[in-house]
Amino acid sequence: MITGKYPNLRLRRNRKQQWIRRLTQENTLTPDDFILPIFLTEGKNKKDEVKSMPDVYRYSIDRLSQITDKALKLGIPMVALFPKTNEKLKNDLGTEALNENNLVCKAIIEIKKKYKNQIGIMCDVALDPYTSHGHDGLIKSNKIINDETIEVLINQSLLQAEMGCDVLAPSDMMDGRIGKIRKALDKENFKDVQLLSYAAKYASGFYGPFRDAVGSNKFLKGDKKTYQMDFRNTDESLREIALDIKEGADMVMVKPGIPYLDIIKGIKDKFKIPVFAYQVSGEYSLLSNAINSKILKEHVIFETLMSFKRAGANAIVSYYADRLDKILK
Ligand code: PBG
Repeated sequence: MITGKYPNLRLRRNRKQQWIRRLTQENTLTPDDFILPIFLTEGKNKKDEVKSMPDVYRYSIDRLSQITDKALKLGIPMVALFPKTNEKLKNDLGTEALNENNLVCKAIIEIKKKYKNQIGIMCDVALDPYTSHGHDGLIKSNKIINDETIEVLINQSLLQAEMGCDVLAPSDMMDGRIGKIRKALDKENFKDVQLLSYAAKYASGFYGPFRDAVGSNKFLKGDKKTYQMDFRNTDESLREIALDIKEGADMVMVKPGIPYLDIIKGIKDKFKIPVFAYQVSGEYSLLSNAINSKILKEHVIFETLMSFKRAGANAIVSYYADRLDKILK
């Protein structure tokens, strides 16, 4: 008698050759799944390596097309822009965020001029690259002040939208900012500008190399635990997501990536909204260093990226996205 158990049932049969493994695979990765972060720097003819992130560079505006051409050629749908602001331009209020000639504004204009709508542009909404204290918001009596910060974030959002940004990504974790930014965008007739909320963003030790890349590391006083989430918590992420959806988020982000796959899955199971995952700088550096020192083989990159798809992510922000031709092969 054939029974649904061993020795008649053998799950290895569906793994016996590559063709059957290909037919039965449950998840796939293509360039459509990626967002490429790009770091910007002042000056001319610059392509500076970020010390803590092997093979990641900061580009001056005149060399930006080197990396954006690559993104387009690979078929990546969107790039995310992050500026390393000149130290002299940083202050308590992060006013450089509102300068229409700042790095991000210049980059948006360049990219839109060159590629029109062939590639999407996403910009962070947060003040940390611009403040002399390295925090995402304004500080008063040692506190990050929520509502006053939102007023600045609204202006930063409107400026980036005006320059041609397609997707605004508030990564600041202030309460209520999604609703207020949406309202301001609609009022100024930026009805098509999307909001990708970093809704479940944890206070993580994995952001270290990013803070080096944007030059906020040595300025940052204290930590971000009064606004970013406690990594002990799961239910709280569902509350954050529910609120941001209600306030008008078009998409939500979970960050960091690998240590938070349970959060991605929990959100995807509960909400029918595009969920993006961010494989952050510390994860990138860990993997890259292990590969460069031959402790791991390069295909572990593909393995980690696939885990995001398995967990339910619609797309992944990854510093490897500019090398997809090799990684997805
Ligand atoms: C800032 C911001 C951070 C990252 C993206 N936007 C750092 C932080 O919150 O301190 C981290 C990305 C990474 O580590 O790759 N609002």
